[in-house]
Amino acid sequence: MTQKILVTGGAGYIGSHTVRELQRQGYDVVVFDNLVKGHRQAVEHAPLIVGDLLNPDDIWAVFRQHPDIAGVIHFAAYVEVGESMENPGKYFRNNIQGSVNLLDAMMEAGVMHLVFSSTCAVYGTPEHVPVTEEESYKPESVYGASKRMAEQVMAWYDRTKGLRFTPLRYFNASGASFDGRIGDGYKPASRLIPRLMEYILGQRDDFMIFGDDYPTPDGTAIRDYIHVDDLATAHIAALNYLWNGGESMAFNLGTGKGSSVMAIIEMVRKVTGRDFEVRVGPRRPGDPVRIWADNTRARSVLGWEPKYGLREIIETDWQWHSAHPRGFEE
Ligand SMILES: NC(=O)c1ccc[n+]([C@@H]2O[C@H](COP(=O)([O-])OP(=O)(O)OC[C@H]3O[C@@H](n4cnc5c(N)ncnc54)[C@H](O)[C@@H]3O)[C@@H](O)[C@H]2O)c1
Repeated sequence: MTQKILVTGGAGYIGSHTVRELQRQGYDVVVFDNLVKGHRQAVEHAPLIVGDLLNPDDIWAVFRQHPDIAGVIHFAAYVEVGESMENPGKYFRNNIQGSVNLLDAMMEAGVMHLVFSSTCAVYGTPEHVPVTEEESYKPESVYGASKRMAEQVMAWYDRTKGLRFTPLRYFNASGASFDGRIGDGYKPASRLIPRLMEYILGQRDDFMIFGDDYPTPDGTAIRDYIHVDDLATAHIAALNYLWNGGESMAFNLGTGKGSSVMAIIEMVRKVTGRDFEVRVGPRRPGDPVRIWADNTRARSVLGWEPKYGLREIIETDWQWHSAHPRGFEE
């Protein structure tokens, strides 16, 4: 029998790529999204239920309408670190209360398996690199704290109700679909690679990196960029792990390799064939020098491995941004 999966936030960036991968692997998918940040066009062949997790009736209705839902992948959240520091209430409400409403609806419907989008921001500046799941929690933003708190709420539903869940702590999600149909729809972009793409496409007057005096080989900060399609396959592996009786457990999702800001810029120059100037600004407070994942646990427990590297990330991102300079707005 085909299993039916509910994907909250499935019209957003990572959610829409995961929906496609679920469909490719033969699952039945229902998408739930309020379209505040997501895009209807990003959901091509699945039913899209427009509703808000902050409205309990909206999510309860989904489980009544689809009593055969076998598991939930929960992407719906607000995701911008800077905004979270300006408007903490917005983030705590949506990312925590929204999750509580989902959990109560799941428990009522008897759906006990949940894959949750978490983030390496729960660790803040790590003490050890590569970062394992044993790293201490020191989130440095309201966003990171809201995700950690949602994980803790889920742990209590595990203890009291028997929920089984996997927080997947992504490092830097990047790239776009290989057929060029969907990608990051944030306009204006806030992440490094999409900002670079906007710059090359003439949508920004200049491009600034934050700090070139870090104690790294080229002086720029190091991050772990993971292709969105690699994230998608990890979610399905996590769901199968839970269905097979796996205990609740967190997994770091990164490639296990760090790339400097300068390495990204060089790869963008190579892939796009464009040369461009970059300005150097001061470091941003709270930006760690280097962070990349130890993905051993995801590899060994989930049997997952990332397939793509920096080149595929930049190639697919360039294909998406150059063909859709206005994102989904066209
Ligand atoms: N993009 C990254 O690098 C990254 C890194 C780590 C973790 N994450 C996590 O991954 C998830 C998806 O991130 P994304 O980059 O795809 O963001 P996104 O904004 O593109 O997707 C989030 C989706 O959730 C929807 N949504 C938000 N609040 C909702 C609500 N109350 N009810 C219904 N729908 C709601 C939005 O409309 C949007 O479509 C988030 O939970 C985020 O915290 C993202």
